[in-house]
Amino acid sequence: MIEIEHVSKSYNKGAVRAVDDLSLTVPPGEIFGFLGPNGAGKTTTIKMIVGILEPDAGTIRINGLDSRAEALRCKAMTAYVPDEPEIYERLKGIEFLNFIGDVYGIDGPERRRRIERWIEAFELTRAVGDPIQTYSHGMRQKIILTAALMVKPRVLILDEPMVGLDPRSSHLLKEAMREHCAGGGTLFFSTHIMEIAERLCDRIGIIRKGRLAALGTMAELRDQAKDKASLENIFLELTES
Ligand SMILES: Nc1ncnc2c1ncn2[C@@H]1O[C@H](COP(=O)(O)OP(=O)(O)OP(=O)(O)O)[C@@H](O)[C@H]1O
Ligand SMILES: [Mg+2]
Repeated sequence: MIEIEHVSKSYNKGAVRAVDDLSLTVPPGEIFGFLGPNGAGKTTTIKMIVGILEPDAGTIRINGLDSRAEALRCKAMTAYVPDEPEIYERLKGIEFLNFIGDVYGIDGPERRRRIERWIEAFELTRAVGDPIQTYSHGMRQKIILTAALMVKPRVLILDEPMVGLDPRSSHLLKEAMREHCAGGGTLFFSTHIMEIAERLCDRIGIIRKGRLAALGTMAELRDQAKDKASLENIFLELTES
């Protein structure tokens, strides 16, 4: 469960109000998609959820724990895939995954099993012996996804996770997201791909200029819009300036 209560965040000493009094709860088991135009505040929100940025005001709780007071316990429950797959270039893929295993305390045959499952699925079995600096964008994205999925976190946070993935990998990721939620995990992800949001999400939040412009199931969002044909139309209508 993720509880965001009256959270605000500004940059440049208040000049840019990136997130403005945002309140939002994502219960476990729900596939929650976070949409919004470029610069609306999605990544800023996500970075506050995972503890990279501190809110100026408001509180965030992860499974009931305050994200600042109990930062380490929150992080131990959470795996995060950032919008840019920038990772330790000089490590080999397998060294990076073993490092993640060490950080999250996953070892022995269980670590091996989990790593094998995902590197086979993402077709990285051969590549994990090479340094990450030799990986393509999509391969980097897949090794970071592997790292997040092997943790089997209770809370999974993905910032535009489909970017750069080929159709097979994208399909696999959607299956993994469904599996995570079916097992009672919490999932929060951002995307610009309306089709994925429409098909995959149980509930959708649309942020605009740091504020929630809409929140609900597809059916509920349809009720709020005049043009109900597609999520794309609803999105365009609700984010119009
Ligand atoms: N490090 C930073 N310093 C100053 N301003 C920032 C910084 N990061 C983000 N911003 C500003 O905060 C606002 C929200 O940015 P954010 O990255 O959260 O948007 P986003 O919804 O993730 O956009 P996108 O869809 O392009 O990824 C924007 O106005 C952006 O210019
Ligand atoms: Mg972003």
